[in-house]
Amino acid sequence: MSSIVPGSKRMTTHSVQELKRKGVKISMLTAYDYTMAKMVDAAGIDIILVGDSASNVMAGHETTLPITLDQMIYHASSVVRAAERSLVVVDLPFGSYQGDSKQALNSAIRIMKESGAHAVKLEGGIEVIESVKRILTAGIPVMGHLGLTPQSIYKFGTYTVRARKEAEAEKLITDALALENAGCFSLVLEKVPAALAEKTSNALNIPVIGIGAGGGVDGQVLVLHDMLGMTHEFSPRFLRRYLNLYDDITKAVSLYIEDVKLQKFPNRDEQY
Ligand code: KIV
Repeated sequence: MSSIVPGSKRMTTHSVQELKRKGVKISMLTAYDYTMAKMVDAAGIDIILVGDSASNVMAGHETTLPITLDQMIYHASSVVRAAERSLVVVDLPFGSYQGDSKQALNSAIRIMKESGAHAVKLEGGIEVIESVKRILTAGIPVMGHLGLTPQSIYKFGTYTVRARKEAEAEKLITDALALENAGCFSLVLEKVPAALAEKTSNALNIPVIGIGAGGGVDGQVLVLHDMLGMTHEFSPRFLRRYLNLYDDITKAVSLYIEDVKLQKFPNRDEQY
């Protein structure tokens, strides 16, 4: 595995691409804070995505649109302090790159400089190619994101599966090839039919990491709070919950409240 520091096991964009070449699936999860990122990194995840889904799960917004560049940098720097092994990729938030390629480059530079992250991700195909190329001129690795692009929710109106129709599927593959040719090191495909996702992965040399895109791609990503069952109002078909922390945490907090009210906490051993 290649690494920035000889001898270290730090994942890099190159080692992520190497996984695809070797046929080893890539694991990616989101994280937004130091404590959670520490556990995710210790478990051996390949990539931590500081997703703009922080807008939903950390801040309680309905969409990803409100989160700011400053807020993304705050989350990213907390994650970077925790990550010893994983590659840390940070979402460029809505409004920080759509203006023009200069704005995109400035936003990407701020993320890299102020958080210490290793790469950025942005949503879109041909329409963001100039920005992708300009960010790459500064030596900043870029991950693409096609299919369901939550920053465009008001354009599409729903979070349903994308690219079911022929024309949209063709555009998706054209966009994916354009992103690869522009120099993206990998691509997220969100909520598209499994057959189309597999076809896209086969057409590209760079790894395709899916969420709701089936098993024929090169890796998988989930939102950490969803797969740990901390969120419970969100249940798309693609989501596998590995824990049910919403119930576990509310039960633990109820027990604590009861102990405080009944003066069972603290006991003699829990005081000075
Ligand atoms: O923001 C995010 O969490 C994402 C993933 C869903 C890929 O972009």
